[in-house]
Amino acid sequence: MDDQRAKRFYLTTPIYYVNARPHLGTAYTTIIADIIARFMRMQGYEVLLVTGSDENSQKIVEAAQAAGKDPLAFCDEMAQLYYEAWRELGISLYEYVRTTEERHRQLVQHFFSRLYEKDDIYQGSYSGHYCTPCETFYTDKELLEGGLCPKCERPTHEVAEEAYFFRLSNYQEYLENELSTTDFVIPEFRRNEMLSRVREGLQDVCISRSSLKWGIPLPWDEGHVFYVWVDALLAYLTGSGYDFTQPEKPCSWPAQLNLMAKDIPWFHAVIFPAMLKSYGLPRVEQMLVHGYWLYGTGKMSKSRGQTITPREVIDLVGADGLRYFYAREVPLGLDGSISLEAIVNRYNYDLGNDLGNLLNRVLTMTHKYFGGVVPEVVEYRDSDLELREAVQQSLREAVKLYGRGEGYQLSRALEEVFAAVRCCNQFVDTRKPWVLGKQPDKLSEFAGAFCVLLDSVRAFAVVLTPVIPHAAQAIWEQIGLSGKVEDCAMEDAFSEYPRGGRIGEAQPIFPRVELAAPEEPPVADEPKEKEAEMPENVIEFNDFMKVEIIAAKVLSAERVEGADKLIKMKVDDGAGGRWMVAGIAPWYEPEALVGMCLPIVANLRPAKIRGELSEGMLLAAQDDAGNLALVLLDKDIAPGSRVK
Ligand code: MSP
Repeated sequence: MDDQRAKRFYLTTPIYYVNARPHLGTAYTTIIADIIARFMRMQGYEVLLVTGSDENSQKIVEAAQAAGKDPLAFCDEMAQLYYEAWRELGISLYEYVRTTEERHRQLVQHFFSRLYEKDDIYQGSYSGHYCTPCETFYTDKELLEGGLCPKCERPTHEVAEEAYFFRLSNYQEYLENELSTTDFVIPEFRRNEMLSRVREGLQDVCISRSSLKWGIPLPWDEGHVFYVWVDALLAYLTGSGYDFTQPEKPCSWPAQLNLMAKDIPWFHAVIFPAMLKSYGLPRVEQMLVHGYWLYGTGKMSKSRGQTITPREVIDLVGADGLRYFYAREVPLGLDGSISLEAIVNRYNYDLGNDLGNLLNRVLTMTHKYFGGVVPEVVEYRDSDLELREAVQQSLREAVKLYGRGEGYQLSRALEEVFAAVRCCNQFVDTRKPWVLGKQPDKLSEFAGAFCVLLDSVRAFAVVLTPVIPHAAQAIWEQIGLSGKVEDCAMEDAFSEYPRGGRIGEAQPIFPRVELAAPEEPPVADEPKEKEAEMPENVIEFNDFMKVEIIAAKVLSAERVEGADKLIKMKVDDGAGGRWMVAGIAPWYEPEALVGMCLPIVANLRPAKIRGELSEGMLLAAQDDAGNLALVLLDKDIAPGSRVK
């Protein structure tokens, strides 16, 4: 890779089905992508962010029909709503690919013609089931009871039609190798999931529909259009500026990062790399597969209706409030629960109480005690230097965590930043400048402290810019700095605030938000503990503590021969490791468990299950429909740590 390429970073969001407006789910991936894009720009990269709309699908035709519109006119209107939503959410520069564009049509036709000429595509017929909301084909075996889609649990319909197929099965070995590259798909357990599915054996995939008219026609057989998924994946190549008529011309391919939720890694991590390999281009370097945001227990999606709209959230806490919530609330990769209460709490506590309060205190006191001019420092006290060291250490860690090397751990990065913010607030609480402020001759003792506090606030503005760009700029201006904070390099966070500089006026940046009180009957004001009314199964804290639950990391896992339900695994428990046997084989592939960090009951009497020693128990929930979900720890933590 030459130097030029080394400083380029190309990332994508999925291109969304525009059969309905953007919602809080699609906003999530787009916001995360924008945070990473902004961060990489501040690290000196030339960044390309591609998003767009997936328009050649059956459900677009159905939605357009329902709206009484021509499909293209319908997509034109919908794309406008997406541009508008991304503008309101502060999404910075991006390239928007629409799959109905001519540049995309030409590329798709050229790309697959090459695969056809290479005999990687052949004609056959398809019969099976199709889920229109997911635009996915399923075999009998894959469907849920009642013929429901295994992904969205809605009815599928049968299809039997002539079709062309891509020889995915030719790429078995290639894909097994690629998926063995440790950071190709993150988090690790998603890579293991894909790898174990690939190892089950690959089937060729259908790439055309002959029963549809809407879509990109196959150049060698106009009675077919391309199956929407294979056309959509190539939007990433279209967006890269790849010119197939001049393949040597520099462009942004290969992309460094595809972002998506856990519904679609199969297309990205398996089908797409094989298509590219067949064509002769490198695959996308990495996929980041995040979880779902759920309302209660249901996934948010446009076809299932929305309960909270992006507009509602923006009206309450601004785009930055939502961006912060998304980046901070849940580590990328895990599911999260969304509610207005949770969003407002994050906003009020972290942004308002911690950051807003610090800014306000520092500005007000600098005005009061130093006439709004940042003092020249005579000398720093040890406590000033300790604060500076602590803040810088947290921020250096945060910058590392934001980046590719640490797998874009935005939530942990923000934890570090806000630990530093709280450290500054505590410093003010302890040093109490207002006491000495009453003795003007003592003020010079505070000059160093104020400088360190202002350096810190300035640094927070820089480091938080990718996540809360508008608020960071407002902070920048209130502390009297000119220009755009987003033009700073991340490394500038560690520069000093200019001594002798004049700060601006404190204005509330994160005014407190109160949610309208839920309409519940008022609770009578009764004593909290009424022994007589305690349920019988109440236990004391000490009883709970008898159960020793600790964090454990799964090192290896395999099925127990002759027992359908059992998986045997070796876990790191921080004390030399132990073996465990769990009845979870119907729900989890052994490979998918490797690398997971789980709570285990560690002091259960060891038992032999089907001849295998089990020295602990996993925790899981099972619902009436028979679904089983394991309890996970939301990030890696030292094995052996107590869970309580
Ligand atoms: N058009 C395909 C993608 C083709 S990419 C070549 C598609 N579109 S979609 O509109 O259904 O978008 C799916 C994506 O939207 C998810 O992968 C995820 O990025 C985002 N999300 C949709 N709902 C979401 C949640 N409830 N939670 C998190 N992400 C969500 O699939």
